[in-house]
Amino acid sequence: MQDMPQLGIGTFRLEDDTAHKAVVDALKVGFRHVDTAQIYGNEEQVGDAIRTQNIDRDDVFITTKVWFDHFGNDSFIASVHESLAKLKVDYVDLLLVHWPSPHDKVPMEQYLNSLKQAKDEGLTRHIGVSNFTIAQMEKAVEILGEGEIYTNQVELHPYMQNRGVAERAEELGMKVTAYMPFAVGKVMDSDVLKDIGNKFNATPAQVTLAWMKNKGYHTIPSSTNPDHIKDNFEFDKVKLSDEDMERIGELDNGERIVDPDFGPEWD
Ligand SMILES: NC(=O)c1ccc[n+]([C@@H]2O[C@H](COP(=O)([O-])OP(=O)(O)OC[C@H]3O[C@@H](n4cnc5c(N)ncnc54)[C@H](OP(=O)(O)O)[C@@H]3O)[C@@H](O)[C@H]2O)c1
Repeated sequence: MQDMPQLGIGTFRLEDDTAHKAVVDALKVGFRHVDTAQIYGNEEQVGDAIRTQNIDRDDVFITTKVWFDHFGNDSFIASVHESLAKLKVDYVDLLLVHWPSPHDKVPMEQYLNSLKQAKDEGLTRHIGVSNFTIAQMEKAVEILGEGEIYTNQVELHPYMQNRGVAERAEELGMKVTAYMPFAVGKVMDSDVLKDIGNKFNATPAQVTLAWMKNKGYHTIPSSTNPDHIKDNFEFDKVKLSDEDMERIGELDNGERIVDPDFGPEWD
C-alpha cells in the first residue's frame, strides 16, 4: 500500500477545465498525490485528468473528503460511492471527513464509524480527519483506537504554524497535512522568505515547501500556473540551516485564513 507522498497538488477553488489542466500539469512534472473534496465540485475533472496520464492506479495517491451534509447514516457511504464514480476509481487512498460536524449535530461516533466502514468495505486505503482541534483528535482516537487515523489535514503556513495541533497530532500517531501552505499566495511577499530563497536561487514558495518537509509535514499547495507547479515540485534544492528554520519560525503570527461559522472552537 502506497504511503502518502509528502507533496501533493491541491484543487480547492479550481473548476472545470482549470482543475483538469492543473492536475494534468502536476502529474506531468511528477506529482503523484492529488487532493480533492466533494465540496470542490471537481472530482470528475480530477478523475478525468488522472486517467489521461495512464499512470498505474497504485502509483497515484488520491484523497477526497466527505462533506458534513453527508454525515447521516444513509448518505455517508452513498456519497463515497458517488465520489468514486466521479473520480472513476474503485477506491481512494485517503478519505477524510472534511470538517467536524458543526455544533456536533451528528455525533462524532456516528460519522467516524461510517468513515471506518468505508475503509472496511475497501472504498479507501486510509482514513483521516480535517480541521480537527486537539480535543477532537483525542476523542477521535478514543472512538476508533490508536493507529487508525492517518492524518489531520489543517491550515498551516509560515504565518499560522498551528504548533499545538501539529505536536498533538504527531503524539497521537497522525501525520500532519498542511493546507494553504502559501497562505493563498501571501508568503510570496515575505522579505524573510525572499532573503533565504536568494541563497539558493529559490522562490518563497520553494523555501516554504522546504520548511514543511524539514518540519516533517505533508502539504498540498495548489496552482493554476504550470511554471509555479514545476517550481513547487522542485523545491528540494533549498537546504535550510537551523538559523533559516528559526527565522521562518518567527513569522508565525497566528493569522488564520479559513474560519467559517460552522468551524470548531480553535485551539
Ligand atoms: N481541508 C480543508 O478544509 C482545506 C481548506 C483549504 C484548502 N485545502 C486544500 O489545500 C490546498 C492548498 O490551499 P489553497 O489552494 O487554498 O492555497 P495555497 O496552496 O496556500 O495557495 C495557492 C495560491 O498560491 C499561488 N501559488 C502557488 N504556487 C506558487 C508559486 N510557486 N509562485 C507564486 N505563487 C504560487 C497560486 O497562484 P497561481 O495559481 O497563480 O500559481 C494560488 O493563488 C487546496 O487546494 C485544497 O486542496 C483544504
